[in-house]
Amino acid sequence: MARDGAVYVCQSCGATQTKWAGQCPACSAWNSLVEEVQSRPPGALAPSRASRARGLDFRTLEEETPAPPRIITGVDEFDRVCGGGVVPGSAILLGGDPGVGKSTLLLQVVAWAARRGVKCAYISGEEAVEQVRGRAQRMGLADAPVKLAAETSLREILDGLKRDKFDLVVIDSIQTMWSDAHEAGPGSVTQVRAAAGELVRLAKKQGVAVILVGHVTKEGTIAGPRVIEHIVDAVLAFEGERGYPFRILRGAKNRFGATDEIGVFEMGDVGLSEVKNPSALFLDTSGERAAGAAVFAGIEGSRPVLVEFQALVAPTAYGTPRRAVVGWDSGRLAMVLAVLESRCGLGLGNRDVYLNVAGGLRINEPAADLAAAAALASSALDIALPQDCAVFGEVSLSGDIRPVSRMDSRLKEAAKLGFKRAIAPAGTDGGPLKVIGVTRLADAIRRIG
Ligand code: TYD
Ligand code: MG
Repeated sequence: MARDGAVYVCQSCGATQTKWAGQCPACSAWNSLVEEVQSRPPGALAPSRASRARGLDFRTLEEETPAPPRIITGVDEFDRVCGGGVVPGSAILLGGDPGVGKSTLLLQVVAWAARRGVKCAYISGEEAVEQVRGRAQRMGLADAPVKLAAETSLREILDGLKRDKFDLVVIDSIQTMWSDAHEAGPGSVTQVRAAAGELVRLAKKQGVAVILVGHVTKEGTIAGPRVIEHIVDAVLAFEGERGYPFRILRGAKNRFGATDEIGVFEMGDVGLSEVKNPSALFLDTSGERAAGAAVFAGIEGSRPVLVEFQALVAPTAYGTPRRAVVGWDSGRLAMVLAVLESRCGLGLGNRDVYLNVAGGLRINEPAADLAAAAALASSALDIALPQDCAVFGEVSLSGDIRPVSRMDSRLKEAAKLGFKRAIAPAGTDGGPLKVIGVTRLADAIRRIG
């Protein structure tokens, strides 16, 4: 029986239930419901005396609003993903797997910003000051005038931030913060929500930009940062494949900028370095291209990026053929395979198919269909594509090739990296490249074979 005012909050998705259950009815996570006492003031909200006198302060749409000023941190890849710098008074959530490099990135961001005269604080709830300092020294940032603190008590942090004024504050991580106004333990949904709410309020009130670090966990043992996504102004995800040094910063939500922007970093011995030209990193331009490889001219955010799709089509050793894909959507692979089979007569139904996007990048664009199809056909036919040929285009279920966005940028980037030809939707103006225009996937495959 629940206590008065007690509810059960899913630590994975944040849904609230009145009764305990082994499985969350909202997100189906197991053992994720935890009893939490709601601390909501009783009674309906009565209007304040001031608002009763003058009503709501309505404005019009046509009034001039100046563009928000920005704090430029100097870490260009970070600034760009934020929409051209961090907006004062805004709250940013930086999410990512433990160990991906969130603390490293933000230490670098505050250090670089501090060197430019921005007043910065880095508050760690996970590491001691000595540890953070040690890391900064290893990264060559020891000279930066950043104020460091190791603290988990929300009360102390809020008090400290009211006394010392900063422009930019990092809270690492939101899951370690706790408020003594709530009974729930640190890391619970109630605590994470309360701490984030207080810090966002402080950001707005004092005009300080606050960056909250949030660990993303799949098991839901600690509250996912998802529960606070709606109260922050921007949500950034820091991603990286294990075994690769590349890290990608992606905007998932941004009230002050575009969300499809990415920042590319490389993790080294002395921290993260910015990758200004990702194509050169993801693409191996030396040597012959093997059968099964196709270079996709893609767009990530505002930038063109060339990446290699690698396919292997092999005889099935046991019963059911295997399909494995890394860096691309498996549903999309199934569709391309079906189109290759039924529209191009390339039967792969009884063969194992493996598809990999080189370098650990994740591609979401439909424009990659043709590159994936070309890689698969190249492997199946055991014919290598020309070394100097890039590929892009969307494949429809009917086997048609559709034009895609920003074809000129794709071609320009390919030309810059020494490509001479492109297999692209018919009608594309090649500029410096020779375009092999295709309207049907079957045509494209014939060109390879
Ligand atoms: P960290 O920033 O602590 O990750 P997070 O805050 O997301 O949990 O980064 C941890 C990893 O980064 C760790 O495995 C070591 C590696 N690393 C480097 O490779 N080079 C470096 O210069 C630093 C500081 C960390
Ligand atoms: Mg960390």
